[in-house]
Amino acid sequence: MAVTAGTKLDARTLRADFPIFEQQVHGKPLAFLDSAASSQKPRQMLDAMDHFYETSYANVHRGVYELAERATEALEHARERMRAFLNAPSTREVIFVRNATEAINLVAYAWGLWNLEAGDIVVVTELEHHSNFVPWQFVAGKRGAELRMLPLDDHGELDLSGLDAIAREGNVKIVATNLVSNSLGTINPVDRLVAWAHEQGAIFVCDAAQAAPHMKLDVQALGVDFLAVSGHKMCGPSGAGVLWGRAEILQKMEPFLTGGHMISSVHVDKTTWGELPHKFEAGTAPMAEAVGLGAAIDYLEAIGLDAIEAHEHELAAYALGRLAEVPGITLYGPPAERRAGIVSFNLEGIHPHDVAQILDLQGVAIRAGHHCCQPLMHKLGVAATNRASFYLYTIPEEIDQLVEGLHAVRKVFA
Ligand code: ALA
Repeated sequence: MAVTAGTKLDARTLRADFPIFEQQVHGKPLAFLDSAASSQKPRQMLDAMDHFYETSYANVHRGVYELAERATEALEHARERMRAFLNAPSTREVIFVRNATEAINLVAYAWGLWNLEAGDIVVVTELEHHSNFVPWQFVAGKRGAELRMLPLDDHGELDLSGLDAIAREGNVKIVATNLVSNSLGTINPVDRLVAWAHEQGAIFVCDAAQAAPHMKLDVQALGVDFLAVSGHKMCGPSGAGVLWGRAEILQKMEPFLTGGHMISSVHVDKTTWGELPHKFEAGTAPMAEAVGLGAAIDYLEAIGLDAIEAHEHELAAYALGRLAEVPGITLYGPPAERRAGIVSFNLEGIHPHDVAQILDLQGVAIRAGHHCCQPLMHKLGVAATNRASFYLYTIPEEIDQLVEGLHAVRKVFA
């Protein structure tokens, strides 16, 4: 099956924007199939960061001189770009952090630790990345609250049949799930889970690290209370992510990190906090990184998130079809129409690290391991999987290269 026309995205042309593809690896064309770990970077984003450093660099929100004002304007422009990208009501609700992990920890520490009580319930799922599991396990443990996990069914999709039973057990205070699984690519029914969470009087925290790069997000339509994004997975630089949260909740929260910039006034006996979003942005902001993230949003929106999503669905369908031809393969996760561009698999009798190393010699980069999802690996009954993940610049020939590589791996281990 060929990837068909009909989508407006032209991956072959877009690849020219990415300098990293101008090389071979081990003498072979690079098939980069690890975008779920981190995406590659377009020249437009790299140029925006260079331009900022070369023309407008100074610390933000402090100086009254021209450069400082330019830098502040650039940072706030990036904040506005993210607000619009998420359809958030206000830039006051857009908090720059390092990554989705930090965003979720912010909510866990600044809301969870202060609001959970003994016997309360925090609900996560078996599909969570450690970043949306460990912080909740930690704060629930500290407060004597219970952690409950929504299970997966045999297709790698969430089984919601136990929700009523959880509600009967006690006071559900937090529901935290991803929108797209980084490991299986499953697209989760966040709308239903948000409605259920709010019926319980709980807050809903959405890990959108794996969704934001690939589909149009709208925090108002989703109805979530918090949403975490990692810039490095969406063509932005490492070191810049965003927490979006409802202003009325953020305003009532204590700060996460304290120090410079996040204060209103500091006296020996008392310190008061600054306004949103600054209350949650202690220290010097990731300024150039935020500017890069703003440029990445410009890049993605010029292509169109709908086109990116459609492209990935086609690639996932193509990959699932081609990979099924490989003898001894086990494919994990739902059908292509209900997953993003991520395919996890195992080859019978061959450890994923061996698979990935042999593939590397053929220029194919995939991730092998537990994908920061050990509870999921336990559920699947494996220590690790191989994972191929796609993005706007992925072309079907890279999937062909992967499949040929897997046949070669099997020969080595025959
Ligand atoms: N969260 C990243 C991944 O899925 C690192 O690989």
